[in-house]
Amino acid sequence: MRYGHFDDERREYVITRPDTPLPWINYLGSEDYIALLSNTGGGYSFVRDARLRRLIRYRYNNAPLDVGGRFLYLRDDTSGDYWNPGWQPTQRDLDEYACRHGLGYTVIGGTRGGIRTETTYLVPPGQTIEAWRVSVTNERQEAAHISLFGAVEFCLWDAQDDATNFQRNLSIGEVLVEDDVIYHLTEYRERRDHFAWFACSVPVSGFDTSREAFLGPYRGWERPLAVDHGTMSGSIAHGWQPVGALQAELRLGPGQSREVVFVLGYTENPPDAKFDPPASGHPDTARARAVLESYRQDGRVERDLASLREAWEERLGVFQVATGDLHVDRMVNTWNPYQCMVTFNLSRSASMFESGIGRGMGFRDSNQDLLGFVHLVPQRARERILDIAATQLPDGGAYHQYQPLTKRGNDDIGGGFNDDPLWLVLAVAAYAKETGDLAILDVPVPWDNAEGSESPLRDHLRRCISFTLDRLGPHGLPLIGRADWNDCLNLNVFSERPGDSFQTAPNRPGGVAESVFIAALFVLAAREAAALARLRDDEAEAVRCEDAAASMTAAIEAHAWDGAWYRRAYDYFGRPVGSTENDEGQIFIEPQGLMAMAGVGLEDDRARTALASVRAHLATAHGIMLHQPAFTSYHLELGEISSYPPGYKENGGVFCHTNPWIMIGEAITGDAEGALDYYLRINPSAREAISEVHRCEPYVYAQMIAGRDAASHGEAKNSWLTGTAAWNMVAIGQWILGIRPEHHGLRVEPVIPAGWAGFSATRRFRGTAYEIEVRRRGDGHPGAVAGTARPGAVQLVVDGRPIEGTVIPLPEPGTSLVRVEVWLP
Ligand code: BGC
Ligand code: NOJ
Repeated sequence: MRYGHFDDERREYVITRPDTPLPWINYLGSEDYIALLSNTGGGYSFVRDARLRRLIRYRYNNAPLDVGGRFLYLRDDTSGDYWNPGWQPTQRDLDEYACRHGLGYTVIGGTRGGIRTETTYLVPPGQTIEAWRVSVTNERQEAAHISLFGAVEFCLWDAQDDATNFQRNLSIGEVLVEDDVIYHLTEYRERRDHFAWFACSVPVSGFDTSREAFLGPYRGWERPLAVDHGTMSGSIAHGWQPVGALQAELRLGPGQSREVVFVLGYTENPPDAKFDPPASGHPDTARARAVLESYRQDGRVERDLASLREAWEERLGVFQVATGDLHVDRMVNTWNPYQCMVTFNLSRSASMFESGIGRGMGFRDSNQDLLGFVHLVPQRARERILDIAATQLPDGGAYHQYQPLTKRGNDDIGGGFNDDPLWLVLAVAAYAKETGDLAILDVPVPWDNAEGSESPLRDHLRRCISFTLDRLGPHGLPLIGRADWNDCLNLNVFSERPGDSFQTAPNRPGGVAESVFIAALFVLAAREAAALARLRDDEAEAVRCEDAAASMTAAIEAHAWDGAWYRRAYDYFGRPVGSTENDEGQIFIEPQGLMAMAGVGLEDDRARTALASVRAHLATAHGIMLHQPAFTSYHLELGEISSYPPGYKENGGVFCHTNPWIMIGEAITGDAEGALDYYLRINPSAREAISEVHRCEPYVYAQMIAGRDAASHGEAKNSWLTGTAAWNMVAIGQWILGIRPEHHGLRVEPVIPAGWAGFSATRRFRGTAYEIEVRRRGDGHPGAVAGTARPGAVQLVVDGRPIEGTVIPLPEPGTSLVRVEVWLP
């Protein structure tokens, strides 16, 4: 069952009924001001940091889940009828409803009793505001007297404190109302030099700033007294819950429309010029008023919308495809890169499942997010790499997270996740391949942000590799530390007390638990590090990395093969995890794809055997599960993984992040059908038709789909902020469609199913546009053309001339266009 449809032409998802199974959200803003907006107007906003600079108060895990955040009410002043054009929170029936989530903007339209409302929400580029442009049309035969109310409930900045520290917070709220603008001034009198404000583009007929006055005692947002009665009380909040609520009266003749723009803004003043007049205690509102003024001009929102669209067209123009497969095209061309931008911006901080007060920027997460984003805005990827590397510890290890506001490593969680540093190598390699900018390796970067400790980025990479080599266990495999990619495989924790963190509780001393996953990741990273070193003529480092990769491969071959797949780990006691020797958790997904990606098991065919085992034991119609059998009881020696009920999250859920590794493995071993088949199983668009099962948004990936052991098999959770976005972009773009940046040029080596006649693509790469046409000579089966062994065997014709191999040599500088014909068997 569907709750809407894609509008591919406009790059929008159109939700046609408001009661989606979960709030289906969008993100507005990709710079300082970020807004989460649901299909019924819910969600909240913040500036730079979802915890410390929260503008709108929001209650997670509420009933209903999404009560609102941005409130718009319409009232028919003749009949007294009132409703929300986005349905929530009054839930009064709408004759028509549609929510269009687009790239950086959302339009929600709702009609009731002949009054049509359409609201465009956006965060304008370069501004720290959100604008809601509301257009109200009277479709009746007679004149209508309508009141339009806009409201927000202010968060007292620190979202964590706001939700807990009531003894203070119920006394500190302060507002100022001047010239129809409501200023939220809490703590401005003391250490803050920023405030929020709420206003609209037309003269208002009333306002409230006290929640209790606006809603009325014992009433909620579904029945506000001021709306019910049609009059505001002009309340001024002193403590309690400050809100911004405004009423505009609209007198509309038949067929007439009016436009009102509401603006929720954030303004910072220089610390020594906060007050006007100086020391008066009265805030300097000049900056805020100037911004507001520009939103009182006609056409301002239209212009912002146009520049947003233009920016996205430009960005998405880097890579566009026409494959004939609807689900591939719409995810690759629009929604997957869009989600990659959001994960790049927000890491795992704020979504409907991440409250914005927990995790900062993940070291591992941010490096991986970059893999799917680097081609969109390489300059920002470069800055990110340098920020991440600056948090690295002198021993090569990493803080598991850092704070976006301070860019400092987070001491609360610390380090010791032994896979973390290796992801930095992959991120730098991806950046260098995309841009050719090897100079980044020479940029001085501090250790643990300590001034004066700088050494070139290449030294950071060197220590990433050494970090693993300095921590090998009894089988010569990497020690796991607190955990590896699977945060919940806590082999050294032995957590017995409820509430103890699995991640940060002290590890039992003397642990020798080893990770086969890190071994595979190491081989992959060491090969990338060797290539980078060689490009910088550092032969000694290149050889060191290659030798290390070779010895790690030997350790894997000797100790990690279980007979039909790779083992997952060795536990604290040296016993295998992910082996037929175990009762549960016999086979894990993570190493199986990664080995092929690292080039391990290709010659002895173990990679292919492992992938066949994945298909036999882990694949479901809803994606590939993390492991089987799921753990049915808690295992002290395994940790959080066995704490989840079977089928959920890391205990045998379909953890979508890992599925692309299998797709890539299938592509590398030449199984085109298998790779695309897995791709489509978790592709959100391909799951749109089962939205009542999947439940999350059909336009973005979710972190997890409940596995076969779960009662709700097929149900997705934790949409938006997941490494799944980046890795699927890599799997489909670079390995299945096969358009892959390399150090010496763009490789084109598609591994597409026999049933596909070909596809076309455009790719901007290092300043040149590549127009790529992929066609078949034969019927797509191996051997269809003499001399080709596998379906991937490819012949390239570049600007009319056949070339050797599949890497297009870099053209003369300044070349704007290269035409590539790609012939498949
Ligand atoms: C979650 C993981 C997450 C980890 C770190 C666990 O409880 O299941 O998915 O990575 O916490 O915050
Ligand atoms: C989510 C975390 O953000 C990510 O870093 C981790 O790899 C996965 N969970 C798996 O545990």
